[in-house]
Amino acid sequence: MKSNPRAAIGVFDSGIGGLTVVHELMMRLPNEEIVYLGDTARLPYGTKSPETVLRFLRENLAFLKRKNVKMIVVACNTASSVALPKLLEEEKIPLVGVLLPGARAAAQATRTKRVGVIGTTATIRSGAYEDALWKLEPAIKIWSRACPLFVPLVEEGWHGDEITYMTAKRYLDPMADFDADALVLGCTHYPLIRTIISRVVGDKVKLVDSAHETAAEVQRILEKSGLRSDHDRPGGITVYVTDIPYLFKEVGERFLGRPMERVERVDLEAVLVNGSGT
Ligand code: DGL
Repeated sequence: MKSNPRAAIGVFDSGIGGLTVVHELMMRLPNEEIVYLGDTARLPYGTKSPETVLRFLRENLAFLKRKNVKMIVVACNTASSVALPKLLEEEKIPLVGVLLPGARAAAQATRTKRVGVIGTTATIRSGAYEDALWKLEPAIKIWSRACPLFVPLVEEGWHGDEITYMTAKRYLDPMADFDADALVLGCTHYPLIRTIISRVVGDKVKLVDSAHETAAEVQRILEKSGLRSDHDRPGGITVYVTDIPYLFKEVGERFLGRPMERVERVDLEAVLVNGSGT
């Protein structure tokens, strides 16, 4: 059965970082409805095994499909790196991750073909960015590093803090010898500390954020499949989270760049097993 073009776009992230992708979607496709699911109760995904992330992602997609979404954006780099390829084989609904759009943007951004990639431990261990970049451009040389402390620093709201700067220096100073001209921010949270990252790596290094390119990919898919909304009024966003952490609204609004009106807590187990829970 063909989906309804007026149905919402489902967006998933392990937490609220995926709202950076939602922000880009709202700029590019202002008439689309968005249903967002942040699996805040189980964050971080970046320190978990691929098997666990795959299990979580299956449950999250099942929840979004119950909301009758027309496509799903996996706005989490960790899930896109370690679990999405498997789900692309299983799912019929159009699925877009952030990894391929990010790799494409990096391949376009580099002149010297020397690229840095940073992300969670799971993303970097998977080697998924390397594989995607080499497929696009086999001559690219890649420096990569996991930066696991960035996620809690961003969640804490320490976006401009000296501690975040010192942490970034510790992780990124070694990249100076590699002489990259582009750095992939391979985690939903990192665009929020891009000013600090740029201060450390220098302004000759272009920071590549997959959110913009992912929104462009979503638009292409909707148009190609005739699923672009024909509504002439602005779309809204419904935010579901599996837990409402302290500072959620404050940090979430910073990600989104606008106030969040509706945030609902959802019990995934109750929804998926008993059909209740929101
Ligand atoms: N959303 C994750 C990512 O983009 C970061 C947070 C986490 O570790 O769950 O990789």
